[in-house]
Parts: sequence; C-alpha cells; structure tokens
Amino acid sequence: MVAGVLLAARSASAIVLNRQDPNSIKQVASVIAHGMMSYYSGNTTGGTPGLLPGPYYWWEAGAMWGSLIDYWYYTGDATYNDVVTQAMLFQTGTDNSFMPSNQTKSEGNDDQGFWGMAAMSAAEVKFPNPPDNQPQWLELAQAVFNSQALRWDTSSCGGGLKWQIFAFNNGYNYKNSISNGAFFNLAARLGYYTKNQTYFDWANQMYDWVESVGLMSPTYQVFDGTDDNLNCSQLNHLQWTYNAGVFLLGASVMWNQTTGAEQANWEKRIRGIIAASVVFFENGIMYEVACEPQGNCDTDQLSFKAYLSRWMAASSKVAPFVIPLVSGWLQTSAAAAAASCSGGTDGVTCGTKWTVNAWDNTWGVGQQMSALEVVQGLLINGSAGPVSNLTGGISRGNPAAGTGGDGAPGAPTTAITTGDKAGAGILTAVVLVGLIGGAW
Ligand SMILES: *[C@@H]1O[C@H](CO)[C@@H](O)[C@H](O)[C@H]1NC(C)=O
Ligand SMILES: *[C@@H]1O[C@H](CO)[C@@H](O)[C@H](O)[C@H]1NC(C)=O
Ligand SMILES: *[C@@H]1O[C@H](CO)[C@@H](O)[C@H](O)[C@H]1NC(C)=O
Ligand SMILES: *[C@@H]1O[C@H](CO)[C@@H](O)[C@H](O)[C@H]1NC(C)=O
Repeated sequence: MVAGVLLAARSASAIVLNRQDPNSIKQVASVIAHGMMSYYSGNTTGGTPGLLPGPYYWWEAGAMWGSLIDYWYYTGDATYNDVVTQAMLFQTGTDNSFMPSNQTKSEGNDDQGFWGMAAMSAAEVKFPNPPDNQPQWLELAQAVFNSQALRWDTSSCGGGLKWQIFAFNNGYNYKNSISNGAFFNLAARLGYYTKNQTYFDWANQMYDWVESVGLMSPTYQVFDGTDDNLNCSQLNHLQWTYNAGVFLLGASVMWNQTTGAEQANWEKRIRGIIAASVVFFENGIMYEVACEPQGNCDTDQLSFKAYLSRWMAASSKVAPFVIPLVSGWLQTSAAAAAASCSGGTDGVTCGTKWTVNAWDNTWGVGQQMSALEVVQGLLINGSAGPVSNLTGGISRGNPAAGTGGDGAPGAPTTAITTGDKAGAGILTAVVLVGLIGGAW
C-alpha cells in the first residue's frame, strides 16, 4: 500500500530534467538511483552484501557501487553510503584485493578491476572512510593494482594482462582491452593520488603495450581483444563504449600529471580517443554501436554506456580542454537518457536506447546505471576534482597491499564446473564466436 502510494507520487513528479538547474539534475538522479537500488537485496536478511541477483554478475555490482560513490559525490545525497560501504567491504576477500573465494573461480582481471576502480573513486572523492580496523579505499585500490601487476604476462605478445586470472577458465588466452585498460586507469589514478612514480611507470608501460599490439589503433579506436595463442597478431575489432572511456580517463589523468612534450603526447591521445568515439553517438546521443541497433546487447553490455559517461565527465575535471569536446555529447545524451526513464509500472523505469527519446520497453540495472551516470555527470562543473595525498586526501594507503599472489587464500584450487561458468565475468560475444572473421 505504502509502496504503491510512493510509486504513484514518484511517477506523478515524473522525470523532467532541467539541465540548467542542479536541483533538477539531483532530483532526477535520485529517482534513477532509487530504481537501480530496487534490484538490490544484499543488505536484507538472507542476502549477501555486495551481490546483485542473477542475471547480474559480480563485476556489475562492483560497477554499481562505483556509480553510487559518484552519486554521493555529485549530489551530496548520502542515502546509500552505508549500503555501499557494507557491500564493498564484504567483497574484499582475504587479501583485500577483491578476490573473494566465492568469485575467484570465474573472476577475470576486468571484473576485479571494476571493484578496484570503485574503491579508487571512493578515495578520490573522500567518500566516508571505512572503520579504522577495516581495509581502506586507497589500500583496496592498491591491492587490486599490485595483484594485477604480478600477472603481467611476457609469455606472449610482449606483455599485457590476460583476460582471465586462472588458466582453467575460458578466455585465459585472450588479452582484452578492458582488463588492460582498467589496470592502466587504476595505475594513472594511483599515481595521481600518491605521486608514487612506480604507478606512472606502469601506466606508461601498459599504454605502450596496448598500442604495440594494436588494441589501441593508430587512429585511437579501442578494439575488444586479441588471442595470445596467435601472439596477438589478430584483433577482434568490436568497439565498446567502456573501452574508449577507460583509456580516456587514464590518459586524462596522465595529462594532468605531466608537462612539456610528455603532456602534449597525452593530449594528442586524448583528442584522438574522443574523436574516435564519434562512432558511439547518433545525433549526439550515446549508443552501444556493437549491439544496440540489432537489439542484442547482453546483460553486461547494457551497462557499458554508464562507464563512458562516467569517465568522459571525470576526464573533463582533470583535463579541462576536454570540456568543450565532450559536453555537447553528454548534455544531449543526458536529456535523451532522462526521456527514456518514463516506463514500467513506476513510470520512471529507464530504457536501453536513448536514441528513441522515449522508453523502449526494457529495464534493468544496466539501464538505470547508464542513465544515472550520464545525468549526474552534468554536475561535474560544480564538483570538486579528485583529491590526492597532497590536496586533502583522507584515505590510508598500503603500498604492499595485495602482493600475496594468486596462491593467496581465496584462490581456487579446482577447475570450474559448468554451474560455476554461469558466473563468468564480462563476456563480449567475441570469445564465444571465436576470433575468426571477428569483424566489426
Ligand atoms: C559466499 O557464499 C556463501 C554461501 O552462499 C555466503 O554465505 C557468503 O556470505 C558468501 N561470501 C561472500 C563474500 O559473498
Ligand atoms: C610476439 O609478439 C611480440 C610483441 O609484439 C614480439 O616481440 C615477439 O617477437 C613475438 N613472438 C613471436 C614468436 O612471434
Ligand atoms: C588537474 O586536476 C586537478 C583536479 O581536478 C585540477 O585542480 C588541476 O587544475 C588539474 N591540472 C591541470 C593542469 O589542469
Ligand atoms: C610505490 O609503489 C610501489 C608499487 O606498489 C611500491 O612497491 C613502493 O613501495 C611505493 N613507494 C612508496 C614510497 O610508497
């Protein structure tokens, strides 16, 4: 009864986004966040903190906590803060590197990376610290970074990270852009936060490697991945929004932290990545070009626009020349996304295709998260930039976190079963179809 009244009240106030008015943006973001959290029950009796129910994989929950950290940062609304902290801390695993034993059997570097990037965001925006006796945001991000640096793989392709962590998983011989991009993104941001040169060195090494195998093309398209059994000589050319985004923010942070010729080089790359991102916009509205037109995006892919939105906004905060290059896209996309949040029984459910400027009869966490990130990102100009150790950071680090290696407690000892495979990480059609002729 009460819920019915509330929903009615919500839909009556509907979603009317006035992009010039911060209060309107906050209200709309609040309605969308509420819809997203209606999928979560991990904080209720019998639930597991941090996890979304199926069909949502573990990684997407980590991404969602990241979007709610952003939500607090942009709007100041602390409604979800305690739930976010509980969820994040419950999933850290024994080594604090986001490798909880329930997940490791099917965990990829990209999955782990999304949780690590959420923790990094928490440190950067001064999200309230966990209790003192618990692992801290910066430390968690460092643990993810350190555990992945140990996996740098020179046995093929001259380096890089494999998609999967453990050899018995499908995709172990695939080196993909999101795994390597998340590491690059995290390395750059850890460098920014701590000013420890080691992180910048790793960011440079990673970017150079990604370019060397062609995952980052000479014209700055980011391709999905490459088979290391073929020594990365063939590429899968699918392009996803989040791959452009993950490199865009890492490059923007590197620009922020460099000078002279080095900085000019990052600027060239940033401008290139943004120019190449034109493929993700139709009439200025963001869309997932590799699956949206055909209507066959999988559950993971339905959330990817959240991350390009998130990282375009964040890039403009550390590299101001980015503002005029992305703000038109973000403004137009936010208006279209808000217009899509007009369906379902509550009248404010968000759809997939922003390009139709109406609800398209679809719903889910990915749809809510994508709309949330693009709408709340409109508040970027009025928000403080990321902090660092030198500029007010309050998160305690531990440079040695997560160095236990993959034999650490929590590592799986047996191959996954068919049942476990259902929990596999981010799938991009590709790997299933194989690389042969994998054209986009
Ligand atoms: C792992 O799974 C068990 C059984 O479902 C559950 O009780 C426990 O809370 C889970 N742990 C994490 C970290 O998700
Ligand atoms: C594999 O690729 C790397 C980097 O591109 C190259 O240095 C190496 O020589 C290649 N190995 C073989 C066997 O082709
Ligand atoms: C780097 O980013 C910080 C945080 O937003 C900002 O204050 C600073 O002005 C940026 N540096 C440059 C050179 O734009
Ligand atoms: C810098 O980071 C590296 C890599 O994590 C670490 O080994 C080293 O101890 C750090 N240095 C300082 C001064 O924190």
